[in-house]
Amino acid sequence: MKKLGLSIDDFLSHGFNLRANLASFLEINQQELDNRLKTGLQDLASLHPGGFKNSDASEFYEDKVGDAHLIDLASWHLNSSTYIADTLRLQEKFATGHVLDFGGGIGTHALAASALENVEHVWFVDLNPQNRNFVKQRAKELGVDELISVHRDLDSIVEMVSFDTVICLDVLEHIADPSRQLKIFLKHLKPNAIALFNWYFYKGENNQYPFHFDDPLMIERFFLTLQKDFVEVFHPFLITTRAYKPMKKI
Ligand SMILES: C[S@@+](CC[C@H](N)C(=O)[O-])C[C@H]1O[C@@H](n2cnc3c(N)ncnc32)[C@H](O)[C@@H]1O
Repeated sequence: MKKLGLSIDDFLSHGFNLRANLASFLEINQQELDNRLKTGLQDLASLHPGGFKNSDASEFYEDKVGDAHLIDLASWHLNSSTYIADTLRLQEKFATGHVLDFGGGIGTHALAASALENVEHVWFVDLNPQNRNFVKQRAKELGVDELISVHRDLDSIVEMVSFDTVICLDVLEHIADPSRQLKIFLKHLKPNAIALFNWYFYKGENNQYPFHFDDPLMIERFFLTLQKDFVEVFHPFLITTRAYKPMKKI
């Protein structure tokens, strides 16, 4: 029997208890949390060193960001809840079996996926240790900790499992070589798997997203790999987030 309290309506009404979960995790009161939520994106951007070499990206997310990404993502999920809800609708349509949530952030998609009838297990991966600890705590508080395991990277998981579903939302622009990341996913997908991807290779009009990669050659390599190795599957929910199956070798 799957857990209640993780439906799309639950997300729209309280983000799966997000404010309470986050205040308790950060050991601050609601007023302090609300103050930090107002400046989440600016606080994250201000940690960015400006000139960002490709090789620095993992170090940035793993060692420098701290709890700033929790605040930024919480603010985004609460303030743009109808957009996030559409990504959850998409996930509800496609997610089955073993689900990988790669770069899963504050765990919204992993938590929602764990409650879906056709999902067996969710593998949450994120480089940021604070994000991982927060998601472990949330999963426990929401009663789904046996359905979600939390990991730093794919290495330890792919020895055990191939995936029926990959969720990789708002992550590819944070990775120095997203084409390579697509190939890694491909290697660990089951033949009839579905992958949900979106991307935003843009630093923003006013450099609001200095941590996004936007090199034109890197983007071209990404699209070439996507078009060579994956076939798009139509869905009616969001035009920015796409569903793919692995290209069959003929
Ligand atoms: C913009 S957030 C997106 C979070 C979540 N997918 C969502 O839609 O809310 C990007 C996440 O990717 C994680 N990340 C960045 N590079 C990563 C990598 N190489 N491996 C795993 N996670 C990574 C960051 O720590 C961050 O939590």
